[in-house]
Amino acid sequence: MRSIVGRTGGKTKIKKQIINLIPKHKTFVEPFVGGGAVFFGREEPSEVEVVNDRDPDIYHIYKDTQEIGNELSNADFTSYRDKFERLKKQKSFKSKKERLYRNLYLSINSFRADRRSYNEHKHKGRKSKPGKNFRESDYQGRLKGVKIFRQDYDKVMKKFDAPDTFFYLDPPYSRAIDNRDYEFNIIDIDELNKLLRGLKGKFLLSYDDTPQARKVFKGFKIRSIKTVYELGHGKKRELKELLISNY
Ligand SMILES: C[S@@+](CC[C@H](N)C(=O)[O-])C[C@H]1O[C@@H](n2cnc3c(N)ncnc32)[C@H](O)[C@@H]1O
Repeated sequence: MRSIVGRTGGKTKIKKQIINLIPKHKTFVEPFVGGGAVFFGREEPSEVEVVNDRDPDIYHIYKDTQEIGNELSNADFTSYRDKFERLKKQKSFKSKKERLYRNLYLSINSFRADRRSYNEHKHKGRKSKPGKNFRESDYQGRLKGVKIFRQDYDKVMKKFDAPDTFFYLDPPYSRAIDNRDYEFNIIDIDELNKLLRGLKGKFLLSYDDTPQARKVFKGFKIRSIKTVYELGHGKKRELKELLISNY
């Protein structure tokens, strides 16, 4: 299943490689879920599933979809600049349906689903109407029973850590601090490393390939992979990333 919405740094292009490395587990936890390419990309749900993101819009997309997502199965997400700008300013909502519509509209019609920069060209030349994926997929059904949080990653990790837990971690990378991709984007990798060293469960961490990361995470299994990032306006950049694990 495709993600509900994209997210800068989304793992759509390399999700298969990541999913193939997931070990046997009971509880699946994504503490930095974003668009959740890996969460939705797995063929079978895990027995217990937990997603978390500090960003309130992302959190509400999951929470509202879980509760009332199918109410938007006829929604029209056709892109208009004035509507986009109006919805961007809207911060209070009469209903969950109204809030979900706003968050999806902004995601569907922005660059890299950042919900800030209007992308009038995004759907030009495409046959399907914006939002087709959301309208036609049973995301409400898929999210049934999933535990959804809006906390700092470490809190959720400590709460669900156990020998049969698997964590897939995709934190903002070192470069996210400069390009302000996310509202919450500063992750102290020494703190993260400390937490990972003490885990009872298994983890797989995506991170950018920097000398600092290789040094901090030394001793864990480190795989290097290549991926391509969309920079917007049709531009792409190939980058090396690390997949770091304790198994
Ligand atoms: C790289 S994105 C995840 C991309 C995702 N894997 C995908 O496929 O779309 C990182 C996410 O971490 C969230 N985040 C940043 N700091 C956080 C924190 N301290 N605790 C939890 N989530 C955080 C951001 O809001 C963002 O959605």
